[in-house]
Formats: sequence, C-alpha cells, structure tokens
Amino acid sequence: MSDDLLTKGVRRLDWADKHMKVLAEIRRRLIKEKTLEGVRLSMALHVEAKTGMLAITLQEAGAKLRLASCNPLSTDDSVALALKEKFGIETYAKKWETSDEYYQNLNSVLDLGPDFMIDDGADLITMVHTARTNLLSKVKGANEETTTGVIRLRSMAKEGKLRFPVISVNDAHMKYLFDNRYGTGQSTFDGFMNATNLLVAGKRFVIAGYGWCGRGIAMRAKGMGANVIVTEIDPIKAIEAKLDGFEVMQMIEAVKQADVVISATGCKDIVRREHLEVMKDGCVLGNSGHFDNEISKQALEEYGGSPKRVREFVDEYSLPAGRKAYLISEGRLMNLGAGQGHPVEIMDMSFAIQALALEYLVKNHQTLQPQVYNVPSELDQLVAKLKLQTLGLQIDTLSPEQRKYLAAWQEGT
Ligand code: ADE
Repeated sequence: MSDDLLTKGVRRLDWADKHMKVLAEIRRRLIKEKTLEGVRLSMALHVEAKTGMLAITLQEAGAKLRLASCNPLSTDDSVALALKEKFGIETYAKKWETSDEYYQNLNSVLDLGPDFMIDDGADLITMVHTARTNLLSKVKGANEETTTGVIRLRSMAKEGKLRFPVISVNDAHMKYLFDNRYGTGQSTFDGFMNATNLLVAGKRFVIAGYGWCGRGIAMRAKGMGANVIVTEIDPIKAIEAKLDGFEVMQMIEAVKQADVVISATGCKDIVRREHLEVMKDGCVLGNSGHFDNEISKQALEEYGGSPKRVREFVDEYSLPAGRKAYLISEGRLMNLGAGQGHPVEIMDMSFAIQALALEYLVKNHQTLQPQVYNVPSELDQLVAKLKLQTLGLQIDTLSPEQRKYLAAWQEGT
C-alpha cells in the first residue's frame, strides 16, 4: 500500500535525520545553548528532506522561521506538508509553482521581517535590496549556499550595493569539495535516470563547465562507462579536464556527437541556436546549474516549436530535418527538478556548515562589514572532525618534533 503524502514526507525527514549525524551533533549543542532564541529567520532553500532537517534544527535552537523554495521545481511536496503539519514550520513552496507563485512565496517569507536570512541563489537577498528595501534596516546578515549566489553577491559588494554581511557557505571546504563535486556528480545522474530511464554506459556525454560541479559530473559519467567530452572557457580548467582523461573541444563540435549534454557553468546561453542547428538527432539536454538559462529555451522554442511532454520530466522539441531534442525538467536544475537532490550524507556536511555559519553570524554580526565573508576555518575544521567521527575514521597527528620541524625555516633536515 502506498503512503499518503504526509506519511511519505515524515518518513523522508526521518530517513534524512538518521543519516545526518553531523547536523544532529550540532543540533544537540544549539538546543542546549538556545543559540537562536528570538532570532527571526527567512530561508529560501530547495525544500526537500535534508533542508527540512536544517529548518527543524534551527527552529529547535530557538529561531522563529519561515521557509520558501529557491526554485519553482525543486520542492518535495511531501516534505513541505510534513514540515507544516508535523513541525509547525511556516513553509511556502510547492512543486511546479509558477514564476508569480515563486516570488509570492519569497515575499511571504520576507513578511516575517527577518533579522537573518539563508539563501540559495541570492534571489531573497536581491529582493531585500530592490523590491523590499523597507526591510533593510532590520536585516543583520545572511548566508549564501551556492556558487551562483556568491557570484551575484560579490558583484553587489564590488558595486558598493550590499547592505549587510553575507557568509559564503559555498566557499567552505566542507561544502564545495563534497557538495559541488560528489553531490552534483551523483544527484545529476539521479535526475537523469529518473527523467529518462536511459542507459549511461556507451553514450557520449558532453559536460559544459569543469568547475567543481562539472568535474563531479564528468567523473561519474566516466565511471558509469560513458565517453565524456568537456567544454570550457577557462584554459587552465580545460587542461585539467584533458589531463583527467577527457576530450576537450568547443560546444559547436561537441554537440555534433553528443547523446547527452549537461551544463554546469553558472552562465547563460551555453546551448543556443547555433548548437541546435548542428545537433545530433535524439540528443538529451539537461542542466545542473542554478538557473534555467544555461540551455536556451527561447532558442529551442524558436527553432523547435512548442514542446511535447513525453515523460514526466522530459519535453520533446522537433527540430528541422526530422531531428528531435529532449529537454529535462524544463532546463531547471535536473538534480532537484527530476531527482531528489544531493545525497543525504553530503547535505549533512553542507548544512552543518550552514548551521554553524548562522550561529557565527548571530554572535558576530556587529563586528562585520557589508561584505561577502568566507566561513571561518575553525568551523570547517570542526565539521571535518565531526564527519570523520561519524565515519568511524581516525587519522594521524603530528608529534612535537614534527610540529617543530614544520615551524622551522632555517633547517632542511
Ligand atoms: N538539497 C538541498 N539543497 C540542495 C542543493 N543546494 N543542491 C542539491 N541538493 C540539495
């Protein structure tokens, strides 16, 4: 017998909780110390089970919070329901929400009048600096989860427009080294397989972008037996891709051979009209970047007409000369649009950093400027140590002589 929606959501949260041991350890301390007592917190994250456990943690630590999704397609409705019904968390999110509903939900979350915010992609923070400037005087700081959001916020800071301190959770080692690489590496294929039910082995995959996300996807594609081509605009990353064993070429050449193209660049118009003109018949297009502008839907519609939905998360475009192109989850991030997001143990580390970075911000915001800050390295180290403990791993330590040797500069022996 299948679960009703609420039971399904409660079970998903339960399962995430069982496997988020680092966050559980941090939660115990935050609750004991009532760290977030009285803090008003607006959150825009992908509303699914792991995010749910972060929200529950912060609420139990004393925060009054509201949660919306940071993407119209990434909500797990069962989890959103469970958060509302079982945990009393004000959650404003549903899967397939329209663009208007998406912004309405962000506005509802901001109506709380936040002291602090947690954002993924920087839409919430941007709104406070544009449409909701009346809130600016109250906001004391924010955390940003992802590469794309941090890029936007650094531009704001550079132009002198940022009005409060922001912590770049993305740039913590315990975030990007694991979440961006192994998280996106696995969850992209969760989305691909769920959307298409197609084989990876033997196919030619083109991965656009060889940042931490792109290299995770390329590595996993290769591991599953795909032939992988990487496209890049950065010469250094292109050489890394080549020496990691991948073919490197321009997109215009790559799409002629591609069975599947996956973008993970953070930039727009990676697949555009000129690529569609020479694309191989049957090519599957997917995006794992934050925004849905990496694969140009405008070009697809102008060149391929209105799409026909052929599976729950796959749209078919009819290109000239009888060719077809298939777009996964409307070009929105396929790992959450068509999949369940990053693995639980990965988000355990990312959200442990989120919780600790929020605690840091609450305690230290008065001494911070309106800039983008990195997560203090002690927090990175703490999460790494806790993760090692949960993995049951022990590592070596330096002897006093070794410590002295490393600190000395005169002697070579
Ligand atoms: N689950 C929650 N947030 C996520 C993110 N930013 N990426 C992938 N999976 C997630």
